[in-house]
Amino acid sequence: MLQLEGLTRYYGHFLALDHLSMTIGDGELHGFVGPNGAGKTTTMKILATLLRPSEGTATLNGVEVSKNPRQIRRMMGYMPDFFGVYDKLKAWEYLDFYARCYGFGYQERMRMIDNLLELVNLQDKRESYVDVLSRGMKQRLCLARALIHDPSLLILDEPASGMDPRARAEMKQILRSLKDMGKTVLISSHILPELSEMCDSLTIIDHGRLVFSGSVQDLAGHMSGRAPIRLRLLEKDNAAHLEQAVQLLKQVPGISTISQEEQNLLSFQFEGADEEVADLLGMLTAQLPVLDFHRQPMNLEKVFMEVTQDD
Ligand SMILES: Nc1ncnc2c1ncn2[C@@H]1O[C@H](COP(=O)(O)OP(=O)(O)O)[C@@H](O)[C@H]1O
Ligand SMILES: [Mg+2]
Repeated sequence: MLQLEGLTRYYGHFLALDHLSMTIGDGELHGFVGPNGAGKTTTMKILATLLRPSEGTATLNGVEVSKNPRQIRRMMGYMPDFFGVYDKLKAWEYLDFYARCYGFGYQERMRMIDNLLELVNLQDKRESYVDVLSRGMKQRLCLARALIHDPSLLILDEPASGMDPRARAEMKQILRSLKDMGKTVLISSHILPELSEMCDSLTIIDHGRLVFSGSVQDLAGHMSGRAPIRLRLLEKDNAAHLEQAVQLLKQVPGISTISQEEQNLLSFQFEGADEEVADLLGMLTAQLPVLDFHRQPMNLEKVFMEVTQDD
């Protein structure tokens, strides 16, 4: 289990990460989402032992990250957002170089390299020089490198950035394989729908602060409370009914931004719980010819824009 508690990081006086707390269970594929500058890379660098937090703790299976960096590095693989690859090496030589750094013997290295190249779908690029690989292939090679010491946690900083849809689909397939292998994966992106379709759970941050952390289903529930409600009335006598509806809605605490969208259609914000929504609907139908009453479903892109608004 990976647990962040009050994780905070200043760069000089600038607060880049503001008391971030979240928990990621073993074997979870966890998306880490936020607009550019939200603090994703800062968080991941702290988890990768490359940056010290100003305050707070991160613990992986009970081991505190900033206090035991060597131990953590054995359990964790990190793929940075910008990475260098050694151009004058072939794909297999590149992996071999790192496998040697970890002290693996020849037989073991050759077996491992074959397995890793297969996992990231680069078997046929074994003998290719790294500099002729596409960006997506380099990213996959870098991912293979992060897996050499068989870590239980993988931290992937925007691995799908700049990928075309095909490369993204391949990355998705690889992530699924990692999950099947029982690995815990924390993967960041500034694009919410990209992650929501492949992850079990998500954390959204903005301006270094937590916006949401939970399952993808919970996010939909969490957000539906913010979606506007639309109320459509029977066309007949609509002017009078509409005016009556507006007056009624104005008296209900928690209702805001009432607006008329069409002749017989109002929309409004209501932050109330489900019970209160049901009560509201009961009250409206008792007094007005209600034709339709529903929450406008929000798509994930809209949700993301809403929760990460500039303030
Ligand atoms: N080394 C640094 N020195 C000063 N400010 C930094 C440094 N690294 C990042 N920042 C700032 O911290 C904030 C968070 O950055 P970052 O963690 O890279 O966000 P993200 O990865 O979500 O785009 C940004 O405003 C960024 O400009
Ligand atoms: Mg980043």
